[in-house]
Amino acid sequence: MSETRKLYVRSFGCQMNVYDAQRMTDTLAKEGYVETDSPDDADLVILNTCHIREKAAEKVYSELGRLKKAQEVAGRQQMVAVAGCVAQAEGAEILKRARGVDLVVGPQSYHKLPELVADAQRRGGNRRAGIVETEFPVEDKFDFLPPPTRAAINKRGPAAFVTVQEGCDKFCTFCVVPYTRGAEVSRPLPKILDEVIRLAEAGVREVTLIGQNVNAYHGLDAAGRSANLTELIHRIAEVPGIARVRYTTSHPRDMDDELIAAHRDLPALMPYLHLPVQSGSNRVLAAMNRKHDRELFFEIVAKVRAARPDIAFSSDFIVGFPGETDADFADTMDLVERVGFASAFSFKYSSRPGTPAAGMEGQVPEQAKSERIHALQALLDAQKTAFDVACRGRVLDILIEKPGRFPGQLIGRSPYLQSIVVEGPREAIGTLAQALVREVSTKNLTGELRGGEFFNERPARESRFIGQSEKLEA
Ligand code: SAH
Ligand code: SF4
Ligand code: F3S
Repeated sequence: MSETRKLYVRSFGCQMNVYDAQRMTDTLAKEGYVETDSPDDADLVILNTCHIREKAAEKVYSELGRLKKAQEVAGRQQMVAVAGCVAQAEGAEILKRARGVDLVVGPQSYHKLPELVADAQRRGGNRRAGIVETEFPVEDKFDFLPPPTRAAINKRGPAAFVTVQEGCDKFCTFCVVPYTRGAEVSRPLPKILDEVIRLAEAGVREVTLIGQNVNAYHGLDAAGRSANLTELIHRIAEVPGIARVRYTTSHPRDMDDELIAAHRDLPALMPYLHLPVQSGSNRVLAAMNRKHDRELFFEIVAKVRAARPDIAFSSDFIVGFPGETDADFADTMDLVERVGFASAFSFKYSSRPGTPAAGMEGQVPEQAKSERIHALQALLDAQKTAFDVACRGRVLDILIEKPGRFPGQLIGRSPYLQSIVVEGPREAIGTLAQALVREVSTKNLTGELRGGEFFNERPARESRFIGQSEKLEA
């Protein structure tokens, strides 16, 4: 192994980027790069970017400016790479717009990072000759990305993401993902299983299967047959040690009856479903090319609730899509009222270069977008608060993930992704417990431990996640 160098990765955007950042870190660890949590002492800084909305995409340029300034003040030489969806979408443009970028690398080329970084290093200070790699290579990057070490898994905690599907063929008219991540590709089932087994052996208890369109998953199984997400979930739930499974993000069109039945049959499948709907207006849904109407969404919600009565929903919404009228927006508010969400993300429509909606007539003025987003967020916030308040007095299962802010505190995650602060020994990190919810605030819930694996078994061994707790508490 070569000399030790320090790596700082900053991710923006979705969970796919969080997962990719880990894989980039694992790849570069083999080249002697050790992760640091500050850009100041890093030899290599990677900005792992998001292109989904204009604001997100512009962030990379302010970050690059800040880095440049800090480098000048400290008289420091650092290598800077731009990865992620802005890298894919803008490529060489980034080198033109920002100074000091050595490497631009798209999401499908992360397995080439060691080679690309070495190349960039050889070019040394000649910043104008920055390298750009945004091809969609024929080989599957996952075949070449090394798996994480046990230490890396422990540092990341007992809940892990696993990418099972990447890219999107849906082409919603507002969205850049089909262009930045490319066509839908599913990883083969045995490779995903191997990865989950490895994670579980290192102590991971919860996996979230991720993909831009995860319920369209159709990877090959060991016999060369196409397997769907339901089969994959069943296989993963059987892996010893795995107690919880989640999947995100789903498209309503791909919520088939088999997958809905899995919510009834598999206790390990958490009763929480993120199902973006974007709008409650059939006119707008059609213009968005979402390929379904509000009636189908209601039907799915009803079926999922029948299969798993304690399930909670979350969703994504866009307000101010071109042509959206007050009446269309009223339909969105009506849909939210009818369904009731435990949590949600909502955005003002942002026009994205190269997408069909960018050229549509009837772009909605900023003022109307602002008014609508305020009204929608007030309703969604009220629903979230009502959901959380209804948890007071209930005993919820939690996975204890990490230490809290104060000594003696632990943070657990409920089935509904709520953070629950409890008091307990650090050795309980990585185990499942029950917590009686006592208090509810906007940030988290506070509860009391009412037993759990750690307390029942009192394992003699040290928690595998203590390394992480020490770091976080320092
Ligand atoms: N694959 C997922 C979501 C991908 S992007 C799905 O099909 O729903 C995450 C969210 O960003 C989207 O659900 C949408 O609400 C929002 N989003 C995407 N493009 C956007 C745009 N141009 N303007 C505003 N919000 C957008
Ligand atoms: Fe984007 Fe639509 Fe694909 Fe989701 S389904 S990633 S919103 S194009
Ligand atoms: Fe952003 Fe790319 Fe994810 S555009 S939301 S980082 S897939």
